[in-house]
Amino acid sequence: MRNVLKGLAIATLLTSPALVHAETVVIACGPKGDEFEQCEKGAKAWARKTGHEVRLVSGPRNTTEQLTLFQEQLKQQRLNADSPKIDVYRIDVTWPGLLAEHFIDLKPYVSEEVLQQHFPAIVRNNTVGGKLVAMPWFIDAGLLYYRKDLLEKHGQKPPTTWQELATVAKTVQEAEHKLGNKELWGFVFQAKEDEMLTCNALEWIGSFGGGTIVDEDGKVTINEPEAVEALKMAASWIETISPKAVLNYEEEDALRDFRSGKAVFMRNWTKEWVNANAKGSKVKGKVTSKGEVAVMALPKGGQDGQSIGTLGGWQLAVSRYSKHPEIAADLVKYLTSPEEQERRAIKATFSPTVMALYQDPEVLKANPFYKSLLETFTTAVARPSHVTGPHYISVSTEFFNTVHAVLSKSGKPEDKLKDLQKTLEGMSNKDKW
Ligand code: GLC
Repeated sequence: MRNVLKGLAIATLLTSPALVHAETVVIACGPKGDEFEQCEKGAKAWARKTGHEVRLVSGPRNTTEQLTLFQEQLKQQRLNADSPKIDVYRIDVTWPGLLAEHFIDLKPYVSEEVLQQHFPAIVRNNTVGGKLVAMPWFIDAGLLYYRKDLLEKHGQKPPTTWQELATVAKTVQEAEHKLGNKELWGFVFQAKEDEMLTCNALEWIGSFGGGTIVDEDGKVTINEPEAVEALKMAASWIETISPKAVLNYEEEDALRDFRSGKAVFMRNWTKEWVNANAKGSKVKGKVTSKGEVAVMALPKGGQDGQSIGTLGGWQLAVSRYSKHPEIAADLVKYLTSPEEQERRAIKATFSPTVMALYQDPEVLKANPFYKSLLETFTTAVARPSHVTGPHYISVSTEFFNTVHAVLSKSGKPEDKLKDLQKTLEGMSNKDKW
């Protein structure tokens, strides 16, 4: 395929006329919007500093669609030496095992000292078979956003368990409906049959003490009472405190409802804090005494349960098919550096992977919730992508299809999870993936 950049909009060419032998580095670093804007600012600064040129390409927002597109592009680039190349890819935290063969080892370009600045769990996640497939760029974790003003108005406290959340959501929703605020729902989240539902459901299951579908030894652990309980609970929300439409919601849909004042609670990623607070958000300035959107750790599954946020986030990797990998690696080093991560955290809540930045006064001033929620990031639970490697997408797909069926009331969780356990065991060879 000649048009390997198909589906991507070539957005900008940043040049520095000063350098005679400038190379052009092509970077695919996120969908249009603040991701693209902040990436462009960083890349532009690197281009000015080094004299090279940078071309940015944008892609779809949905992570599954991005992966499909990247896999196709990388395949074409491997097969066809003349095809146009993307040098640097922004990859999801679950992709290193899926795409490792297409990326260079970044170890020769990054010192041990630099690596040690990042959360060790993410560095481990990005290391496949001893090869550093990608540099950590920013992390995400699932959080609970809420309307402090509405809770106070109706004499309710922020919930610490899911059971409390359901009660508070119902109380506020009913009271507001009586006052004429008929479009308000209690809780919005992401339950589209897609990767985001895997993230949400792992939080429910983990909060009851259940596992992560497949454990670290490769054993399938989904047919458990904790998972049954968690899915029953989530199914009971649909059409009581959550609109049926959540069955098709991505992150942006939930955010739209919350920002327009149509939801009391919202599950979303850390990254959305800035968007919930951004210009045009009806809830901005209403929610806490300091005028920020109120946010807390996700509820526990009962008093004995725990608060679990799924680990998300994005990395930067250099393509094996790049014509100038060392220059591309230099761009990756620059974009993932403490200075650049600090700038991005202050400007747009891209939560740093560099640990020291959580002590940085400017970063904390811009993101006051980091202080109370640091533990949520550091204990966030990873999806089983490392252990299942190339099978992760199939595992996740079987899982979210099962969860979606339960939420849509087209099957009992007991039966569905039993079937899922069998299907997943059939995919692995006695716990080997
Ligand atoms: C966010 C997370 C990413 C996750 C995706 C699911 O972008 O950072 O890790 O896979 O949401 O929609």
